[in-house]
Amino acid sequence: MNSVNIGGVTIPGNVALSPMAGVSHITYRGICREFGAAYAPTELVSARSIRYNGLEKSMQYLRIDPASEGITAIQLFGAEPEDFTAAIGKIMEDEVLSQVDIIDINMGCPVPKVVKTGAGSALMNSPETAASIVRACKEALKGLPKKIPVTVKTRIGFEAGDCGKPEFAKAVADAGCDMLCVHGRTRPQMYTGECNRKAVALMREAVRGYDIPFFANGDVTDGTSAASLIEETGADGVMIGRAARGNPWIFAEVASYLDGRSDIVLPSEQEKKEMLLREIKGRCRYCDEEIAVREFRSVMPFYIKGIRGAAKLKVRLCSALTVDEIKEILEL
Ligand SMILES: Cc1cc2nc3c(=O)[nH]c(=O)nc-3n(C[C@H](O)[C@H](O)[C@H](O)COP(=O)(O)O)c2cc1C
Repeated sequence: MNSVNIGGVTIPGNVALSPMAGVSHITYRGICREFGAAYAPTELVSARSIRYNGLEKSMQYLRIDPASEGITAIQLFGAEPEDFTAAIGKIMEDEVLSQVDIIDINMGCPVPKVVKTGAGSALMNSPETAASIVRACKEALKGLPKKIPVTVKTRIGFEAGDCGKPEFAKAVADAGCDMLCVHGRTRPQMYTGECNRKAVALMREAVRGYDIPFFANGDVTDGTSAASLIEETGADGVMIGRAARGNPWIFAEVASYLDGRSDIVLPSEQEKKEMLLREIKGRCRYCDEEIAVREFRSVMPFYIKGIRGAAKLKVRLCSALTVDEIKEILEL
């Protein structure tokens, strides 16, 4: 697989795990890396909360582990450049967090709670503010012992009728963004409807002259869809979101396809169950067992998708409160 240089940081491939709240847990990010994900950013974390409440309150989302993750990336969201400056300042004071390799800025979140604060996809309506945020992050990361690039993840538009925002892409690139990732849907589409590859391609072309890598995102479910998304958008790589939930094997499958190999090995039912158990055990290292198991309810159904008796199994798994119960239900 092609490695990609993101502002001086080389990621060992061009297929990454897309950040997902509730899914991109530190444990799962490490697992995805084992299966070939080039890197895997944290889920979105509020820059404002870090600024005013400190790191501890957000630590469950922020936590990184350079040893198991390889290249690490923290995704921040916010609407005010000063919040990012302060948040990065705090991150750089922490012994482990300061080892982060990439800071990613969320400029695509469609959730009303985020949008109404002017953050996430709302920034697409304010290219000036978006550019100021990138500049503030770059400034806050200046003069550190290692160069930490700043990347942006966004969408193709804020309004339903938007078909790409080339001016927005240029604005963040002009401000010094080191990599851009575009999800081919507008804010109102959330995660429904088709990924508009032409609109993604338009944004890709807009930043071609900046010599920064461009990733496309949306509806990658296997090697074929990854290859065609790259081809039709001119992207350097892809991020995989929903299809990677409970499915780290997708990274090996896509890598294999992109490399022109046909050695795809799909996981057995037993392997899926064992991986589910591995992830929940890993999650329990970071918080109270019952909380971890409850949080994992949104992820477990993806692991058992397609296996015999999945519907019944799902009901039982989602009422479990301990790892032992999960183990028993899975007959492991
Ligand atoms: C449950 C869920 C949580 C998400 N959380 C985030 C997030 O924290 N940050 C972000 O940039 N995108 C987030 N996304 C968007 C995904 O990263 C990705 O852009 C989107 O799902 C489209 O890719 P896909 O078609 O491969 O799923 C989330 C998506 C889902 C389904």
